[in-house]
Amino acid sequence: MSDNWNPASWRAKPAKHIPEDYPDAAALLQVEQTLRGMPPLVFAGEARRLKSLLGDVAEGRAFLLQGGDCAESFKEFHADNIRDTFRLILQMAVVLTFAGGKPVVKVGRMAGQFAKPRSSPVEKIGDVELPSYRGDNINGMEFTPEARAPDPERLLRAYSQSSSTLNLLRAFAGGGYADLYNIHRWTLGFVSDSPQGARYRELSEKISEALTFMAAIGVTPDSHPDLHRVEFFTCHEALLLGFEEAMTRIDSTSGDWYDTSAHLLWIGERTRQLDGAHIEFCRGVKNPVGIKVGPTLEPDELLRLIDVLSPHNEAGRLTLYGRFGHDKIADRLPRLMQATKAGGRNVVWAIDPMHGNTLTAANGYKTRPFDRILSEVKSFVEIAKAEGVHPGGVHLEMTGQNVTECLGGARALTEGDLGDRYHTHCDPRLNGEQALELAFLVAEKLKEDRVDLARRVAI
Ligand code: PEP
Ligand code: CO
Repeated sequence: MSDNWNPASWRAKPAKHIPEDYPDAAALLQVEQTLRGMPPLVFAGEARRLKSLLGDVAEGRAFLLQGGDCAESFKEFHADNIRDTFRLILQMAVVLTFAGGKPVVKVGRMAGQFAKPRSSPVEKIGDVELPSYRGDNINGMEFTPEARAPDPERLLRAYSQSSSTLNLLRAFAGGGYADLYNIHRWTLGFVSDSPQGARYRELSEKISEALTFMAAIGVTPDSHPDLHRVEFFTCHEALLLGFEEAMTRIDSTSGDWYDTSAHLLWIGERTRQLDGAHIEFCRGVKNPVGIKVGPTLEPDELLRLIDVLSPHNEAGRLTLYGRFGHDKIADRLPRLMQATKAGGRNVVWAIDPMHGNTLTAANGYKTRPFDRILSEVKSFVEIAKAEGVHPGGVHLEMTGQNVTECLGGARALTEGDLGDRYHTHCDPRLNGEQALELAFLVAEKLKEDRVDLARRVAI
């Protein structure tokens, strides 16, 4: 256990983005007490396994694919949505593995990604001002005083939804759905007749041929059960610390504290103050943790954050997600990468190309242009290469659903299309087709680098 740390030590620190306006504070404490008695959602051994896989990413032997909703909601809770995002992650992982020649560590922003930091604590429509919507585990989206009042019972509902979601994910991951022999069946209905669908079919043909060849020489799912299943992990932003504290338990195997609400927890751009509550909480749990790294962070502060969160400098403990914006990354990222490299800090460097590229369309929709997302990912890979750092992974807001929330992509979604199926409860997500397109384009970029490296080695 870290010095002077306990699961509640964050309470003595300044905490941003945690609601203090629960009408009934005693009811909140009661719910947190109930959560303390609930079974853990994940097991510490699984979090250690993810940490070891992220250690491979930190050392350049694997790639991280992290993605899912910006905010899960009670309304969109459905087996089909869970399955569709899960299989989209599988498809993207196949594309990235095939091109990059490295295993892909799969982490869903799922089964607990509810609470949101908001740019303003209030929302005004006409003359009416109400508290902002803060995620389904806190308040409701409807613009009424009743819905916008924080309700602690929502935490129990979020726990229950996370538990059912995780149960289904575990079943899909281990029960045969993710069997590589099913690769043809993972294509989402609406993607199958797109250029991405055709490209994916071509790739899955090649993989199927390879599987047939392997079976012929005796490598079958019976001899290699790993062909039958995938390892799949969950993550969310550790924002609502009362909930995270209630889910934190001592692991009987190691005697260490683990936050059992997800395998990986990250700290957002708005709550990463060195002396703040979120850093305090995350420094004491042994899960792999992440931190968003935005355009205002300077190298010396980054190094201090790393040293607080990862004092033993273990590979896999800490992932940094750059989120600068397509037009700022070239200016901000190189010096941060130079600092971690020169300082010998073992971190995963990944890119979140979503949060620095958000804009409001003329018709009022919050959106993100696909081109800018892609451009930030490409810059990330190029900068990492120039700095001699492994471009470790991507962190995306995406859904398997056929939504119209981000502009562009192969179908060239326009501002006028946004209203068709704009379902997100918070930020705009890539739809299944856009996400798969991004995977192909990133795969090409990674492949170029692999070929470059091979050439350099050969010379
Ligand atoms: C998020 O990941 O949903 C988020 C709010 O990101 P950031 O902290 O980078 O703004
Ligand atoms: Co978001």
